[in-house]
Amino acid sequence: MTILERINQPPSRIGSAALYDWDELVQDDRVHRLIYTDPAIFTAEMTHIFAGTWVYLAHESEIPHDDDYITRRLGLRPLIIVRDHNGKIRALYNRCTHRGTTLCRWDKGNAKSFQCPYHGWNFLNTGKLRGVPWPDGYACDFRDPKYNIAQVPRVESYRGFIFGTLNLDAPPLRQWLGPIAKPIDQWLDRNPGGKVVVCEANRLKFKGNWKLAYDNSGDGYHVVYSHRSLLETENRLADEGNKGMAYYRSSPDSAPMYVQYMGNGHHFKDKRPNLNQRPGGLWAIESPHPGMEHYEAEFRRRYGARADDLLDLAGSEPVNINVFPNLSLLGNHIQVFEPISVEETNAIWYGTRIVDETGELGDAVDEINALRMRTQEGFPNFGEVDDVANFEQIQRGLQCIEDEWVYMHRGLGIPDRVRTHDDGTITAPATDEVFMREYIKEWKRLMKARPNLAIQREP
Ligand code: FES
Ligand SMILES: [Fe+2]
Repeated sequence: MTILERINQPPSRIGSAALYDWDELVQDDRVHRLIYTDPAIFTAEMTHIFAGTWVYLAHESEIPHDDDYITRRLGLRPLIIVRDHNGKIRALYNRCTHRGTTLCRWDKGNAKSFQCPYHGWNFLNTGKLRGVPWPDGYACDFRDPKYNIAQVPRVESYRGFIFGTLNLDAPPLRQWLGPIAKPIDQWLDRNPGGKVVVCEANRLKFKGNWKLAYDNSGDGYHVVYSHRSLLETENRLADEGNKGMAYYRSSPDSAPMYVQYMGNGHHFKDKRPNLNQRPGGLWAIESPHPGMEHYEAEFRRRYGARADDLLDLAGSEPVNINVFPNLSLLGNHIQVFEPISVEETNAIWYGTRIVDETGELGDAVDEINALRMRTQEGFPNFGEVDDVANFEQIQRGLQCIEDEWVYMHRGLGIPDRVRTHDDGTITAPATDEVFMREYIKEWKRLMKARPNLAIQREP
């Protein structure tokens, strides 16, 4: 038995029911504050969640060519996501097999090999050790695979989104995505060629637990209160007052939008039914951007009858597609949550642009992408900060040790409000917390499980 296997054996602090009873911590209507504040639970999450299930790592468009790489994380493990010289996508541990330092200190680049900055060991981008300086000083055989870089044994993509897990018993990625794949497909298929390319990001860091962001990702209850200033900004120029998230304002639970739990921790907020389904209907609710009227007028002059359809490609799709535990697709953005510690998290908002491989958009594609970048200046700048302020204040509030419970019971126990469908998905009005109750059950299942974790090395 390895040291790792030994420390993961019960009764460890985490495995020991004497210390934590997961059913006590996560109940039907509430969760215990410890799941957000306890460093030992966070440590356990780094294996049970951020290794024990599929985790979003990167997008294929970030490494389009052979030998392209980008550095990312799986939980706290630093990774190099690389498209090796045979085009295979790998998730290498960014860790030298000699003394353990990170091998790659850049965010991204193109490299056939990685040379360790410490003593110069050199590795091919397949992870195989290529050579070490002054090998005469070693008696060992460096062909032993133990000197090759460790890597994530299972890396799979779904339509450009790259996921990885260390859990050999996890179901195939597509099966694990289940019904959440459908809104992902729709989010992509509204674009020419069914694609997006990931651009640079707005990067925020907040002093709070990562689950506070995932709890919030489908929360329709907070919008008019937390985002009041944004709603006012979005609607300050419009006569109708129907811009941006205005559909939350009067009676969100009787609006056609809904929240849907999709299984395996994934959930979906669909606000598209609120929209006027006509060409230009999406663009019509886009909130004002600096210079927008002039830009739009010029766009309409140039593209005439096509303008409405083209402008819709720039508008923010009114969905929140949340893939447990760390990925959200919303508007035109891809949001990724990166835990840093029990009380610190990165919330990164990548912009996306569309591509026009068939030439159907002509020179409009650059204009559309310019407008899409302006949408990056909307919610990611002026909405996310409201949410992040709440997450930090929750983390503070949860320091009240004796006040133990956090409630997520909105909608629970009201007849006919929450509906379970034949495919197992669950729908409810937009402000319900059913998605929180359901995803945290999946969290609990994973925390109780003993995942079959492994790494892999080139032979
Ligand atoms: S730590 Fe990498 S070569 Fe020594
Ligand atoms: Fe919010």
